[in-house]
Amino acid sequence: MTIAQVAVVGAGYMGGGIAQVLAMAGFQVTIADADATTTRHHLERLRREAVEFEEQGLFDPGSADLVAANLHAADSLEAAVADADYIEEAVLEVPEVKGPVLAAIEAAARPHAVIGSNTSTLPIGGLAANLQHAGRFLGVHFSNPAPFIPGVELIAHAGTDEAAVVAAEDLVARTGKLSARVSDRAGFVLNRLQYVLLKEAASLVEEGVASAEDVDIVVRTTFGYRLPFFGPFAIADMAGLDIYAAGFRTLAEHYGERLDPPAVLTELVAEGHYGVKQDGGFVIPAGDSAPLVAYRNRAYARLGQLLRELGPAPL
Ligand SMILES: NC(=O)c1ccc[n+]([C@@H]2O[C@H](COP(=O)([O-])OP(=O)(O)OC[C@H]3O[C@@H](n4cnc5c(N)ncnc54)[C@H](O)[C@@H]3O)[C@@H](O)[C@H]2O)c1
Repeated sequence: MTIAQVAVVGAGYMGGGIAQVLAMAGFQVTIADADATTTRHHLERLRREAVEFEEQGLFDPGSADLVAANLHAADSLEAAVADADYIEEAVLEVPEVKGPVLAAIEAAARPHAVIGSNTSTLPIGGLAANLQHAGRFLGVHFSNPAPFIPGVELIAHAGTDEAAVVAAEDLVARTGKLSARVSDRAGFVLNRLQYVLLKEAASLVEEGVASAEDVDIVVRTTFGYRLPFFGPFAIADMAGLDIYAAGFRTLAEHYGERLDPPAVLTELVAEGHYGVKQDGGFVIPAGDSAPLVAYRNRAYARLGQLLRELGPAPL
């Protein structure tokens, strides 16, 4: 199925940004918020913001015209979704709010329309209970701020049709963003990792290991500096899986079994897979690592240039 008409229900922070992204990608986008007046205010805000972002060089030339031409406001949820091939739900992260909204979307949508939820953490299978034909429903989780963050999680629940996932994949690809398929577990990948990081960071502060300001400095200037380019598996492969196994043994000794070496790491090391330095690892296969090292060095040096150009964040 080719998606041409899109509706976004809930045009606040996330829904508004998602609507801009889709309008700039050439989709005809209709937004609906809690009432017609709020929706019109959001439309004006999104059009104004697109002009400002283009003037600041943050959006490509022509983007504001695309938003002006392709983004529309409907007077009701029903009117917004009536002609849509794809509908993104982005109302509050409250099951009691999302449930009736999803049911109303389905009741007014065309039978073939795919419905995605931007929920950050709620299991998709639970939300799917609000729909009669839940095969068309999945999580399509854009990240904040949607116009600038390039990744989208796609979360099928047990009953999602493969065709719905493929349609959502195609939609995301047409925005220039990158999607990843993720299973339906609370928090998915993004927020499960992000929340664990914040929880551990808070523990460090509570234990007096470092101040919140110093934890932030360590994160963004050390391992966080690598993350725009490499995920945790590639980073471990480059560092050496034998090193990681030894590190986990020390951490487990001091923090208990929650930081035991993961079984998959222990197995790889036992088989002689030490990452880049020997036989490949989690995601980097064995082979010539010179191009990867050159890319890494270029990436980190260029990131340093960008940070010096931008200066420190005005916290
Ligand atoms: N803010 C983030 O960082 C972030 C990141 C990723 C995902 N999300 C998820 O995106 C969703 C929206 O979050 P947000 O930050 O944009 O919230 P928000 O409060 O900015 O926007 C929610 C919008 O939904 C509207 N709304 C409420 N009830 C409605 C109804 N019955 N019909 C139509 N519209 C209705 C509100 O008026 C508001 O404009 C949530 O599920 C949230 O978890 C948020």
